[in-house]
Amino acid sequence: MIVGRQPGGGAAGERAQEISFSEVCVGALDDTPTGDVYRPILTDVNLTMTESMTTIIGANGSGKSTLLQLFNGLVTADSGRVLIDGLDPLEQGKQVRSRVGFVFTDPAAQLVMPTPLEDIELSLRKRVPKSQRRDTALSVLDELGIADLADRSVYELSGGQRQLVALAAVLAVDPQILVLDEPTTLLDLRNKEKLRTVLADLVARRGVRVIFSTHDLDFAGLADRALVVDSGRVVHDANPAEATRAYRELIMSDST
Ligand SMILES: Nc1ncnc2c1ncn2[C@@H]1O[C@H](COP(=O)(O)OP(=O)(O)OP(=O)(O)O)[C@@H](O)[C@H]1O
Ligand SMILES: [Mg+2]
Repeated sequence: MIVGRQPGGGAAGERAQEISFSEVCVGALDDTPTGDVYRPILTDVNLTMTESMTTIIGANGSGKSTLLQLFNGLVTADSGRVLIDGLDPLEQGKQVRSRVGFVFTDPAAQLVMPTPLEDIELSLRKRVPKSQRRDTALSVLDELGIADLADRSVYELSGGQRQLVALAAVLAVDPQILVLDEPTTLLDLRNKEKLRTVLADLVARRGVRVIFSTHDLDFAGLADRALVVDSGRVVHDANPAEATRAYRELIMSDST
């Protein structure tokens, strides 16, 4: 897709299908008795991503969710620059958010309506005429094998069912880039395999680029590229098999 030159954001057309991070740092200010102290969360992240599917692995608290949230401007860089297909989330937040779908680990962060059907219809309100919303929403639920949940109360759904509904609500708006933060945490084996197929299909049939974090090192194998994050830095960048090995070594060396 050719996108015109974006004000202040570089030439999106020249950088179509490229995500880049240059010298990105994110931190938090801790209130201490001696004043505010800057605590780094991500340090000097440099990345160029053109792959269809990238996974991010690393220990609890290493910075994976923070890194993922930079992709759609939920978190902004304190210094350095993030460009999503030439668009700067700081300056062109709306365009970036319409391109990047974000699925949270906790579906409760996302589901706002009483039933899955209503939630997805709400997601569709800006793109699909009212008369077609119900059918479109049902077909998205059907794609994930959960059409039978359409009219159930979201409060009565199991954790895994809710995680799938949250994914359906994001897929309904047809994102070009899909970011998922630990999407398998609540899923059983069957649904994890279903998710594997859905993600592979999105890449193959719709050209969606997928970025996900995970603690499931087997699931990480689905990706073309794997980044290992440790203490806020990307310390390995390789294929999933190599990155997983490096991550295991890192953990073993830490515990000795
Ligand atoms: N809004 C915030 N304010 C202050 N500190 C934060 C904030 N968000 C995250 N952190 C801190 O940044 C570090 C990285 O957090 P992050 O959630 O990115 O880790 P993670 O790799 O996703 O961990 P997990 O595997 O447990 O999900 C942690 O020490 C966390 O406490
Ligand atoms: Mg996280």
